[in-house]
Amino acid sequence: MSAHGPVLSLCDVLDLDQATSRDLAVRASGLTKRFGDRTVVDALELAIPRGSVCGFVGPNGAGKTTTIRMLLGLIQPSAGSGTVLGGDLGEPQSYLHKVGALIESPAFYPQLSGKNNLLALARLAHIDATTIPDVLDRVGLLQRADDLYRSYSLGMKQRLGIAAALLAAPELLILDEPTNGLDPAGIVEMRDLIRSLADEGMTVFVSSHLLSEIEHICDRLIMISDGKTVFQGEVAKLRATRGDELILRPESESSLASLLTLVQRAGFAARVEEALLSPPTVVVEAGSDQAAPLNRLAMHADITLIHISERARSLEEAFFELTGTHSRDVETAHSLGSVT
Ligand SMILES: Nc1ncnc2c1ncn2[C@@H]1O[C@H](COP(=O)(O)OP(=O)(O)O)[C@@H](O)[C@H]1O
Ligand SMILES: [Mg+2]
Repeated sequence: MSAHGPVLSLCDVLDLDQATSRDLAVRASGLTKRFGDRTVVDALELAIPRGSVCGFVGPNGAGKTTTIRMLLGLIQPSAGSGTVLGGDLGEPQSYLHKVGALIESPAFYPQLSGKNNLLALARLAHIDATTIPDVLDRVGLLQRADDLYRSYSLGMKQRLGIAAALLAAPELLILDEPTNGLDPAGIVEMRDLIRSLADEGMTVFVSSHLLSEIEHICDRLIMISDGKTVFQGEVAKLRATRGDELILRPESESSLASLLTLVQRAGFAARVEEALLSPPTVVVEAGSDQAAPLNRLAMHADITLIHISERARSLEEAFFELTGTHSRDVETAHSLGSVT
């Protein structure tokens, strides 16, 4: 009777089997990295369609940066195969010129302006410098191009990092935690920037340990935990499976258990929720259309409900359920500066 299907079987990589490698900016299979006897990336399957913004989400230590470093040829996979923009993962030089990346904080000269930092980089990489004003414009730094790097806010520094990644006109942009440490305004600017790049047709692969920071800009999500995929698919699909919940509170706490059994027997997924400051309730995975039938059901069993309300389940909860990490935990870690 419950309208909500299983969540954990959602990996829709298989939907992409029909997609040819040409449709996928990144495809990896069995991607694994071991450090000593520790497996930190464990047989990941990755499929990132061209033109999409794909979020890469998982708690700190889940293996995001390690995965990204493998895609960028910075470290060698222990096992697995794949392609990036059609080039073999084993031959990074075949595709790296088409990939822009922001991984860790980029090194810039503090005493040079944003523009001169890009000029220095362009010279080093033998890249045409005439695109610099355009690139600065795209990341919203044109007005501040002549100001010293050291006077930039953290958000501006991150955006200059993206400008540097854009210099070589990449087809794929890989951003490792670009919102990390930014204030709310900086996060919004970063999101707007990523969205505008996607609107230009760029494929973006963006990681974060906080789903809430990137969920609104992503078409697809790959969630990992302990190096393994826990969800891969369209954000819309994930959202659709996260149905609403009904909160039922009986007049007497002593009827909680019988209400729970009653609701479960009727075919609903349900649980008792104990809150710190409010009386316990029965939480039912059902939408508002089930409120009246559930009320009648309780009434027929002589249980009087004194409260029925609907609660939308957030993607944040899905993240918690799938990764076993509450974002509050990672936020605490974040404020302690232990983000890797
Ligand atoms: N060079 C390395 N040697 C040993 N362990 C490493 C190395 N790089 C990363 N790790 C470990 O791999 C795990 C995944 O790290 P990482 O990929 O940085 O996770 P994330 O980016 O998701 O926070 C962590 O436990 C980390 O300590
Ligand atoms: Mg990381």
